[in-house]
Amino acid sequence: MPDVSPTKWHLAHTTWFFETFILKKFLAGYRAEIPQYAYLFNSYYNAAGDMHRRDLRGLISRPTVQQTHRYRASIDSHIDHLLSNAEEKLLDEIEPILVLGINHEQQHQELLITDIKHVFAQNPLYPVFRGRDVALRRPDGGARRPYQFVDFEETTTAIGHNGDGFAYDNEGPRHQALVPAFSLASRPVTNGEYIAFIENNGYTRSEFWLSLGWMTVNEQRWQAPLYWTKRDDVWWHFTLSGFRPVDESEPVTHVSYFEADAYASWAGARLPTEFEWERAALDCPVEGNFVEDEIFHPAAVASAVSAENTMKDRWLHQMFGDVWEWTRSAYSAYPGYRAAPGALGEYNGKFMCNQYVLRGGSCATSRTHIRPTYRNFFQPEKRWQLTGIRLARDPR
Ligand SMILES: [Fe+2]
Repeated sequence: MPDVSPTKWHLAHTTWFFETFILKKFLAGYRAEIPQYAYLFNSYYNAAGDMHRRDLRGLISRPTVQQTHRYRASIDSHIDHLLSNAEEKLLDEIEPILVLGINHEQQHQELLITDIKHVFAQNPLYPVFRGRDVALRRPDGGARRPYQFVDFEETTTAIGHNGDGFAYDNEGPRHQALVPAFSLASRPVTNGEYIAFIENNGYTRSEFWLSLGWMTVNEQRWQAPLYWTKRDDVWWHFTLSGFRPVDESEPVTHVSYFEADAYASWAGARLPTEFEWERAALDCPVEGNFVEDEIFHPAAVASAVSAENTMKDRWLHQMFGDVWEWTRSAYSAYPGYRAAPGALGEYNGKFMCNQYVLRGGSCATSRTHIRPTYRNFFQPEKRWQLTGIRLARDPR
């Protein structure tokens, strides 16, 4: 699949990042052992030279996994050497790039999971990445309770990162934004709720769909989220724990922006803007089902929140972790944003066209990677990430 990269490519590319942006720049006399790696493992940085085509990454059989690990070990030891001998002034210069490189690697750790899931899903043997015996749902059926809408008053609020700790450049500049009154659903849309949309012929009723979405759903013949199959009248889906019946109490995932938007229309609601989401999230603790939990699948409401929180029906659940939440905000620059000059300026800025913002992280995101101001972005037709839906609506 054009968007999916091989595991060893992710390993090599994150290493290439440190080699290209730190060693080649700051380590006097550094010479790449295998110069061709620069071409193979550059992803999209035009200022760093030519690159191999993304959609053809899967065709490259060399270097092997072992050679890739050797490359990583070699770059690691060079970085170690550089940092151990660098003076304070040089360290100050290197630090922001090093921290960016570590955050970059965390992003690719998430892609390792979503990408191998897509690869495994092509295989009729449905390989199991990690077995799972326990249900992700408590038997109390808490998730079957309908969601509530939590009301927020109109306010002018600060949007964007406050500069305390690491953030990507696209999270700033921090600025004041007027957020009119809105309501946000207390939890993400579940599989059970999404099945009701499917069974109500949601995929064949044009009135719910954006024009581009309607074209896409017909061209692609979508009838359900990615990885879903109907067998003997029961929905099954491929997960990293194998092929399983769809659990109605889990958040729906692997839906495109188009599907999220169509579902919201069908439900008489809409998707939140990223500003509404961020304003609501500021009151929420950054906790949830993350990659560290090693479930690699969104968890139902009942198992994802404490019993105490479950009682507070009007609180927002699962804002962080489980599934990335599509917003209706086009991924664009905040007022005053300028991409940095040079290759690292290509990190976020040049993608600010034809993509939508997602918020909150997923069960494949690291707990230490996500924050309320974090802006992820994908094209509206993409489905291979762990993307889901939270509804919003205007005041009644
Ligand atoms: Fe990358």
